[in-house]
Amino acid sequence: MNPPAYVKHARLKAWVEDMVALCKPDQVYWCDGSEEEYQRLCQQLVDAGTFKKLNPAKRPNSFLACSDPSDVARVEDRTYICSEKKEDAGPTNNWMDPGEMRSTLQPLFDGCMTGRTMYVVPFSMGPLGSPIAHIGIELSDSAYVAVNQRIMTRMGRAVFDVLGEDGDFVPCVHTVGAPLTAGQKDVAWPCNSTKYIVHYPRTREIWSYGSGYGGNALLGKKCFALRIASNMGRDQGWLAEHMLILGLTSPQGKKFHVAAAFPSACGKTNFSMLVPPAGFDGWKVTTIGDDIAWIKPSSNGDLRAINPEAGYFGVAPGTNFHTNPNCMASLDKNVIFTNVALTDDGDVWWEGMEKDTGHLPDHLIDWQGKDWTPAIAKETGAKAAHPNARFTVAATNNPALDSAWDDAAGVKIDAFIFGGRRSTTVPLVTQARNWTEGVYMAATMGSETTAAAAGQQGVVRRDPFAMLPFMGYNMSDYFQHWLNMGDTLKSTGARLPAIFCVNWFRKGDDGKFVWPGYGENMRVLKWMIDRIEGQAKGRENVFGISPNYEEITWTGLDFTPQQFQTVTHIDKAAWVEELKLHEVLFTQLAYHLPAELTATKTAIALRLDA
Ligand code: OXD
Ligand code: MN
Repeated sequence: MNPPAYVKHARLKAWVEDMVALCKPDQVYWCDGSEEEYQRLCQQLVDAGTFKKLNPAKRPNSFLACSDPSDVARVEDRTYICSEKKEDAGPTNNWMDPGEMRSTLQPLFDGCMTGRTMYVVPFSMGPLGSPIAHIGIELSDSAYVAVNQRIMTRMGRAVFDVLGEDGDFVPCVHTVGAPLTAGQKDVAWPCNSTKYIVHYPRTREIWSYGSGYGGNALLGKKCFALRIASNMGRDQGWLAEHMLILGLTSPQGKKFHVAAAFPSACGKTNFSMLVPPAGFDGWKVTTIGDDIAWIKPSSNGDLRAINPEAGYFGVAPGTNFHTNPNCMASLDKNVIFTNVALTDDGDVWWEGMEKDTGHLPDHLIDWQGKDWTPAIAKETGAKAAHPNARFTVAATNNPALDSAWDDAAGVKIDAFIFGGRRSTTVPLVTQARNWTEGVYMAATMGSETTAAAAGQQGVVRRDPFAMLPFMGYNMSDYFQHWLNMGDTLKSTGARLPAIFCVNWFRKGDDGKFVWPGYGENMRVLKWMIDRIEGQAKGRENVFGISPNYEEITWTGLDFTPQQFQTVTHIDKAAWVEELKLHEVLFTQLAYHLPAELTATKTAIALRLDA
């Protein structure tokens, strides 16, 4: 199909022509983003066996896709940052010389879409036309990608109006890597055992081969909004962060905005949709974003943030009315589920839902299409839903959606939060005394790996700024960029956002979590607001400023000073060991590591010694 007449961008059209010549699809389809198109493509996916339509009485307008069992998650070991020089990708990324990578990919992409349709998917990351937003065009041979992108981004015809005749866009090429020979029958989830997720930072291109799943295929998310955008942010003076954004309104109607970075699987979606507990009447938490923030300084020195996405691609298992009631409410219609289980009445199920109903279902079809019963699960350990099973749902489904979530000007950030999953050592909450100390907290944050991931439980994987898998250039240069941003903001005379480090996951001697988490995290948020407003004094520790017990609002929660001590105390011996681990990280990142961070570490060591 020729480009529609409303596409006026000659360079874009020439690029699509080149890609058609390379990938050799049978057809080219330009997505307009309409509801009619969405329904048509969903029906096409149903006919192809990729989608199962769910019972409309239970989940109106919703679908279930089950992937190939080999294609269930992001593939970090197949993800490349192809900067011109290896040191610019840094020690935390896979790197290949861009020329060598292009020669590797050329034969793979040559004819990769034979027998398939190439979908041209125009999308805006962020509100259309916002000065904080940027545009991408994804060419994909997957209709599943096209319909997911319609939920996850502002996708469709209006993007071409913003682009005009010569606007900038990030070219994204995606193929499942499964060309069809004449007459060959397709499978429900085509993919290839060879996978490449490739970024060229200099030319701002993304090339993805072999996977149809999640961040490997929905290229606006991790590939563009974090890896490529982090490069744009460094060059243009802004921040692309793995952060949720939430709004917090006090009973007096004063509104604050917080951006929070947590590694994958630390409950970001839950935190972004938090329901304040009893005792917080009049307080309101609203969601701007659940995964990614783009943050640009305004002329008066404020940091303005948008959520570049328009939907949530969240992990389903573990989500229930206790952990995230707003999310459960978001999922009652217009959802694409991937790799969850199917109930006998045509609805979906995943592990964690039994907490709501009080019992396991008698029978399910699991994510691999096999019978599942509680007895089978007990005997074999089989999960009904894949642990990384997902829902794709529009932000507008969220009952706690912030009224400014789509504001082109973004929201003003008052605080940053950095949190990892640590059973010991790191206290519940600590405020950095200054920007540099905050950058240090973020740079050294970490999460304990599970036995399944690392073979050794409790090993701390450092995940600076929760960006380890998503950093598009050298990590130490990124630390420097954060420090530079602080200097730029300071030079305007504006008040910088406060920076906090949190850890919801400290355990007691009995090995159980001490802090109740979820909605109760509101108590910590409230203390942060009190700090920002100058209403909580806190006390200094070696690492920053901690709350005093009486500064936390305890109404409605029985949490003793003793328990508070367990989650907040600083164990000097543990911190001596912790600093040794920071040293290991700093040795790994020695090239271009900012001297301010080494100096901050020395200052902590001196305070520990005192
Ligand atoms: C995600 C992740 O999927 O961080 O958001 O892994
Ligand atoms: Mn994420």
